[in-house]
Amino acid sequence: CGIVGYVGHRSAASVVVEGLRRLEYRGYDSAGIALVSVEAGEDGSGGLATEKRAGKLANLEKAIADTPLPEATTGIGHTRWATHGAPNDVNAHPHAGATRRVALVHNGIIENFDDLRARLETDDHVLLSETDTEVAAHLLELQVLSGIDLTTAMQRVCQRLEGAFTLVAVDAEDPSRVVAARRNSPLVVGLGEGENFLGSDVAAFIEHTREALELGQDQVVTITAEGVEVTDFDGTPSSGTAYHVDWDLSAAEKDGHDWFMRKEIFEQPRAVADSLLGRRSRTGRLQLDEMRLSDDELRDIDKIIIIAAGTSFYAGMVAKYAIEHWCRVPVEVELSSEFRYRDPILDYSTLVVAISQSGETADTLQAIRHARTQRSKVLAICNTNGSTIPRESDAVIYTHAGPEIGVASTKGFLTQLVACYLLALYVAQVKGTRYGDEIAEVMHQLEAMPDHVQTVLDGADAVYQLARAHTGTRSVLFLGRHAGYPVALEGALKLKEIAYLHAEGFAAGELKHGPIALVEPGLPVLCVVPPRGRDQLREKMLSGIQEVRARGAQTICLVEEGDDSIGPYADVVIRLPSVPVLLQPLVSVVPLQLFACELATALGHDVDQPRNLAKSVTVE
Ligand code: G6P
Repeated sequence: CGIVGYVGHRSAASVVVEGLRRLEYRGYDSAGIALVSVEAGEDGSGGLATEKRAGKLANLEKAIADTPLPEATTGIGHTRWATHGAPNDVNAHPHAGATRRVALVHNGIIENFDDLRARLETDDHVLLSETDTEVAAHLLELQVLSGIDLTTAMQRVCQRLEGAFTLVAVDAEDPSRVVAARRNSPLVVGLGEGENFLGSDVAAFIEHTREALELGQDQVVTITAEGVEVTDFDGTPSSGTAYHVDWDLSAAEKDGHDWFMRKEIFEQPRAVADSLLGRRSRTGRLQLDEMRLSDDELRDIDKIIIIAAGTSFYAGMVAKYAIEHWCRVPVEVELSSEFRYRDPILDYSTLVVAISQSGETADTLQAIRHARTQRSKVLAICNTNGSTIPRESDAVIYTHAGPEIGVASTKGFLTQLVACYLLALYVAQVKGTRYGDEIAEVMHQLEAMPDHVQTVLDGADAVYQLARAHTGTRSVLFLGRHAGYPVALEGALKLKEIAYLHAEGFAAGELKHGPIALVEPGLPVLCVVPPRGRDQLREKMLSGIQEVRARGAQTICLVEEGDDSIGPYADVVIRLPSVPVLLQPLVSVVPLQLFACELATALGHDVDQPRNLAKSVTVE
């Protein structure tokens, strides 16, 4: 989501709407604004005026043009990427408390919102929306009504919230300040003269100031026209880190990166962490909020068919390894475009899992419609709340990658993998094919993944150098085994999509049955080596690598740290953090994304909008 806050001397409505326009790439399910004017409102709501609309920012702008908001120099705004609750007018931000004294916008997920909501409802609070945000608005207002200022109220409320969030609030009776808080979710302060700004990123205010203040975790910031005050959640005075932004506007939207795709690759630790948030109950059991299939229905499932297209299909291939291993249920993975034309065998005990980042891919949509006519249950794994595929499915697991702008999917893929692992573990839990402590152990390993992905990203420079050395390459091969096989396919797809190079991924064992004929001196072959602990697999992979190297290929090997057995066979080694083989795709695909992005850049291609491709293909 995109967030803006402003206190100063200009029209807050213009500053906020302009800021939202710059942030619209962060989400466009709905947009909203709240202003606090010095004049009290006639309806007794203090000086608070709000407007919000489902859909793109243009809808909000039209509403404001039709019914102008009062003059105000204090305001907040939000452009939403829906997580909890459908993208409609009611769920749009800002949310107000019961007496409309406080208005609040929010980015992130408040994990304990169910508990907090239940408690509010017991105290006769009526909540209008399905959002976790409204709960925070009510809590904040209760504090303010008890007679304390908005800053102290924010500190107290934040101490009760779990999860990741950025909150920005105004108090109808105090136009002098906007108060914000952050935990694991982005927020920056823009420092002006006689005015100050808040934004999800600097794009929100870069037209007005290039002086910014970065906040730490668990901090509350109060901006007034004259100054900025930072504290910790417990009220202890603190400070942010001041810096000067020297990006232009378009770089600012991309957080300083040259491409949205590169920005999205670097957002992956956050995206993985967000997709894991809120999945465990207090007792440690796995819970999937929008599962909507009963345990009995899941227990009756005796076959799973995964359907998807493009990158999502490769996530499905990884899912097969995980589900069959943990759940002992047979899994087929099929391209959406092939599925319904081959007369697939389906019935009520088949679970069809549709993986689609956009939720709009026509091939996948038609495939699930076919599955439902055959009485199969359909579960969607999707990144876009309210899109058609989850709407037409019996159940859904939303990934929380945030909007993906680059046509070639990156953070979409990683979060799909996370959702697939969660689904597999959930089915194992329901069917009892794995013990609770085994499931907890894998969850624990998954929760370490954001750090591991970050470690890979920290090594990006070496991969970039490698990519730049290959601008003269005509063809690249990718090899993998087991869960590394879909990674090889995805690595090749990335290169085709954005670098327009001939690239093929193979199961390493298949090499000797044909593809090895392609190998000639100098051909780059990227090899995803399984981690130790799966020695048989690893050794077979090493033989494959030796075979291509013996024929003159240049072997570029992605190998777990500390594994030295690769030494004599690798021309180039890229180190991966040590993780179990089933989870390795989460780290091994990252260097391949970086490689493709850098090579395409070096070749002068438009990485975000590659030729002939579309982000979401809504024709069959
Ligand atoms: C298009 C995109 C791919 C994407 C595929 C499936 O072809 O260019 O990047 O993987 O669609 O999209 P979906 O939204 O269904 O995951």
